Amino acid sequence: MRTADNTDRFEIIDCRSGTAAGEEMKREVYAGLTAAQKHLPCKYFYDSRGSALFERICGLPEYYPTRMELSILKSASRQLMRGMDGGSLIELGSGSNWKIRRLLDAANGCLPRLRYVAVDVCESALLGSAEELLHLYPDLRVSAIVSDYRCALDRIGRDGDRLITFFGGTIGNMDAREARSFLSSIAAAMGRRDRLLIGADMVKQKDILEAAYNDDQGVTAEFNKNILSVMNRELRAAFDPSCFEHEAFYREDRECIEMHLRANRDLSVEIQDLDLEIEMKQGETIFTEVSRKFRRETLEETAADAGLRITKWFTDRKKWFSVVEFVKKRA
Ligand code: AVI
Repeated sequence: MRTADNTDRFEIIDCRSGTAAGEEMKREVYAGLTAAQKHLPCKYFYDSRGSALFERICGLPEYYPTRMELSILKSASRQLMRGMDGGSLIELGSGSNWKIRRLLDAANGCLPRLRYVAVDVCESALLGSAEELLHLYPDLRVSAIVSDYRCALDRIGRDGDRLITFFGGTIGNMDAREARSFLSSIAAAMGRRDRLLIGADMVKQKDILEAAYNDDQGVTAEFNKNILSVMNRELRAAFDPSCFEHEAFYREDRECIEMHLRANRDLSVEIQDLDLEIEMKQGETIFTEVSRKFRRETLEETAADAGLRITKWFTDRKKWFSVVEFVKKRA
């Protein structure tokens, strides 16, 4: 149900092409489930149930990244918004609006000249968040773009300076090559005065990291298994989530959390839309998510390779999380 669009301060742009997205999903899932190490792209976690589960994860006591990032933004927001006099505040993979509100609260004078552009694959999350923001900030214009954040940048108009944000540590859900190509495509779309703000989770003790992905209430386990329900609905697959166990562990050699679904018995699953039946042995896993943790040097290097340079670095007292500002390197 669309409720945010009864105002001229709001627009929604749907960039999804049902057929192209459907074909991409088929290609990716087929490749993933027929590989030696079975895997699924983590973007398929986020249907409306997955997005709601992720919101719950963000509020869990073990999941420190959201709290850390919010507190960093609270103290850095004035500095980040200083000098911004209108233009666009863009949030890639927006989900809830907690983080952007920190920046909007520091924007005071320029709110009537500011456009907030939220990009997310989940239309219901976009609408809920837009409605709240339109109510909280009566001068703000809001554009919601229903799209994978990787495809949206060239669809965002240029009216003044742009502050592009990519919060939550989501950069860690890409492998090094993907992150470089994603950042390069952002750099290519950036003008000289545009800035990019990225939230990144930092390398830290293994027990803290593992607790964050193995919460006591089992919300992360539900989130992980939700990808099977997405496969069942979208590709007419026959996964039984009760045949899988959630597993998340820190790989010190790769400085990342890996999330898997481990089969608790021998099984076979039919995926009708792929014309495929897969076999799994008890103990075999489907790799569902990588969540890389960063060091300052790794981020500097990745950014430099992508044509970006760091202009500001904010972190918390324990250096668990960082919010980093980049601009385009001069040619
Ligand atoms: C969205 N992303 C940054 C989260 C993370 O921490 O990698 C997704 C997540 N997976 C399990 N818990 C949270």
